[in-house]
Amino acid sequence: MVTQTNYSSSAPSNVDLIRHLRARIKSNGPLTVAEYMKEVLTNPLSGYYMKKDVFGSQGDFTTSPEISQMFGELVGIWCLNEWMHVDLTKKLQVVELGPGRGTLAEDMLRAISRFSDVRDSVSLHLVEVSPALSDIQESKLSGKNLDQIKAEAATKPTEAVSEGGHYKQCISKYGQPVFWYQSLQDVPHGLSCFIAHEFLDALPIYKFQKTDRGWCEVMVNFDDDNSCFKFVLSPGATVASTAFLQVAPDETRDHIEVCPDAGQIVQELCKRILSHQGFALLADYGHSAEKTDTFRAFKSHQLHDVLVDPGTADLTADVDFTYLRNMTEPTVPAQNVI
Ligand SMILES: C[S@@+](CC[C@H](N)C(=O)[O-])C[C@H]1O[C@@H](n2cnc3c(N)ncnc32)[C@H](O)[C@@H]1O
Repeated sequence: MVTQTNYSSSAPSNVDLIRHLRARIKSNGPLTVAEYMKEVLTNPLSGYYMKKDVFGSQGDFTTSPEISQMFGELVGIWCLNEWMHVDLTKKLQVVELGPGRGTLAEDMLRAISRFSDVRDSVSLHLVEVSPALSDIQESKLSGKNLDQIKAEAATKPTEAVSEGGHYKQCISKYGQPVFWYQSLQDVPHGLSCFIAHEFLDALPIYKFQKTDRGWCEVMVNFDDDNSCFKFVLSPGATVASTAFLQVAPDETRDHIEVCPDAGQIVQELCKRILSHQGFALLADYGHSAEKTDTFRAFKSHQLHDVLVDPGTADLTADVDFTYLRNMTEPTVPAQNVI
């Protein structure tokens, strides 16, 4: 698996990120695919998500909330129905992980706000690493002009995190307080509706390949001769293969992807729901532990090589829902997970 894009002859559009990846490889050896994916998507200076709007016809891909407002409105009604089953007299936190343009959250709030008895009992909590997208979300949710939000943000100290754990806040057009966080761990505990739509597929995966010498890890190296990134195999077991690879006795695949971050998030959601009540909707494209190599990139709505021009295309991998279900089992009875 060698990807030939010669960086000395072509003009990549994300030179800083390529330099950074090369420097990491040069000093510490090949990167895990998870390290590569994390850097490419969320490196604070030049990660794919960090600087611009990447959605819709002008961007690289389109998600369901962007196609019709009915999507978010129906999720809002579902949320209200679930809340009714728990206790409508309790305040509800709507927590969305990876809210993109904020369209789903806005459509949900609009639908929920039609019910005046409960409208003021809702708060919105957004887990978002991208400063650029958080500004777009604020604009959509508050109704304020994006330029005004950017101008205000430029005058505030960076990295300012409040005592409550959020890095910014506003009031939605419909009157609910909205807070932004870097991580789920920072979101306050309480009765919550957790939403993650096409979020888990953006989290870093590890890749493992069965070989004559057993299971090896697929890693990313830089080929100095051809001046391109390429996949290589570890000589044997690695820290990640020892920690994360669980091969079932009846496994027939010779290539497996594992996303421990998604597993950890699902476990955290389970713990929170068990201790403070709530419900979750995780919507993504995925499989039940049968797919092999799903790691891919999208650029201008076309498939793109994951190792070419990192930072200029979305990286994604199908979500293994069997793995996630297994991660919930120690805490949640199987009949509560569908
Ligand atoms: C594929 S987009 C999905 C956006 C939106 N949910 C939708 O369906 O339109 C992934 C979103 O997750 C955010 N994101 C990616 N990695 C993240 C991380 N580790 N923590 C928080 N947000 C992250 C991105 O900035 C983006 O908002």
